[in-house]
Amino acid sequence: MARSIVSIINGRPAEGPAAGVVDSPNPSRLTDVVAEVTLADAGTFAAACAAAKQAQPLWADIPAPVRGRTVAAIGRIVEANKEALARLVTRELGKPYPEALGEVQEIIDTCDFFLGEGRRLYGQTVPSEMPDKQLFTFRVPVGTAAVVTAGNFPVAVPSWYVIPALVTGNTVVWKPAEYAAASAMALFELIQAAGLPDGVMNIVFADGPATFGGLEQALRAGTLDKIGFTGSTAVGARIGELAGRHLQSPCLELGGKNPMVVTPDADLELAVEGALFSGFGTAGQRCTSLGTVIVHESVHDEFLAQFAAAVSAAAVGDPAQDVLYGPMLDQKFADRFEEYLGWIQPHHKVLGSSAVGRITGASPRAGFVGDPEAGIFYHPTIADGVQPDDDLFRQETFGPIVSVTTYTGFDEAITLANAPGYGLSASIYTNNPREVFGFRRGISAGMVSVNNSTSGAEAHLPFGGNGKSGNGSRQSGVWVLDQFTRWQSMNWDYSGRLQKAQMDVAEITADLDFRLED
Ligand code: UN1
Repeated sequence: MARSIVSIINGRPAEGPAAGVVDSPNPSRLTDVVAEVTLADAGTFAAACAAAKQAQPLWADIPAPVRGRTVAAIGRIVEANKEALARLVTRELGKPYPEALGEVQEIIDTCDFFLGEGRRLYGQTVPSEMPDKQLFTFRVPVGTAAVVTAGNFPVAVPSWYVIPALVTGNTVVWKPAEYAAASAMALFELIQAAGLPDGVMNIVFADGPATFGGLEQALRAGTLDKIGFTGSTAVGARIGELAGRHLQSPCLELGGKNPMVVTPDADLELAVEGALFSGFGTAGQRCTSLGTVIVHESVHDEFLAQFAAAVSAAAVGDPAQDVLYGPMLDQKFADRFEEYLGWIQPHHKVLGSSAVGRITGASPRAGFVGDPEAGIFYHPTIADGVQPDDDLFRQETFGPIVSVTTYTGFDEAITLANAPGYGLSASIYTNNPREVFGFRRGISAGMVSVNNSTSGAEAHLPFGGNGKSGNGSRQSGVWVLDQFTRWQSMNWDYSGRLQKAQMDVAEITADLDFRLED
């Protein structure tokens, strides 16, 4: 049965005029409507920011260790509801259940990390140039954060923003993807169950234009201090521009065209396993999904044969069963994927399935698990022979397609890997330490994997990208603290007189001409 979902602001259902109602269907069984979502308008979004802004000083006054215990409680509540939340993620987004369990685990891991941060949030004591004076640094919360997230990781990625924001004393307005509304509302309820005061955490459902308008209004009103955004490069650029006009730097986690370099001495079986998981897991709809395999010409044929065999044999279908991947997240991703499939050209060799495009009764896939017509399922596609000028090489292709190209010299592999201008995740399969460190140094990506796929980042390492993948902001671990806090410095002169920095500083005379006698 469909659940009716509305925005919650200040602990109460939103009152603003509704901007329409949309369904969030189960993408593997479209007749199953998971939620009916009432969308808010820009004014309601801005009202949520105002409510969060008002709640922020009181939340910041709660001692950080107490806020840390609230984060601990969120982690425990999520853990106690792990299976129920994962089942909902599988139903609403079509993620295979083991992956959905992993996604929920990532929230728990994030809480585990940040519960202790409440007792750290270290500042420094710093020596002064002058006597009887002491210098200090403090982390202060940024204020109110708007967190706008995609639905491919409907609960894990939001937690990467929300948990550190809360522990550092910020209040939050979370705008999840409409097609992930039920999963988002479930996580919101689990967070609220930890006892957050009203207004500390708010959830708003809105379409893109209303969200953008709401951000703009709140920035103008001075009720929004930080934007966190996970989504496309194009929207990220617009958000960056808007935030920049208000002298803010958003935390942007954008797309990727993630390369995997396979060298002559790579363990090919391992590389194939990695390419299968990162190319087709979540139906290729992760920001860390594999884009292009850049394989040395001497092992290309063998790699391709093994990869094609593995993809052809992979189980696709009902995400509640044992499959490599399920449906597209939502119809809009299917529509866009159809465009990407249009980039396949005559010079590409297509492998991996019996057909290209949507899996249907008329275009079946061998071994499909369940009923393909019930949902939005796509054939896995490998496009070999991709060239650097091809759209397939240069653009992100969110969906189950992997490009393959070859290289001759190692420097060429790095040039090819950097060429699309993204810089999120990159992987190399090699047993040569020179290549490992040469790749690390030469690659533009924020995250580098060695003998591991482009996906599967752990929740306590910096996560983020460069170039078209982001503005250099990092999430996770201690690194995200710089997104949600600002450094404040304090100097305290207790000498009882005005001591001027750089001027009233004692000098010890050195003999700089001193030389050792030969
Ligand atoms: C994303 O796709 O936005 O590393 C995040 C991974 C996951 C997170 C992906 N842990 O693939």
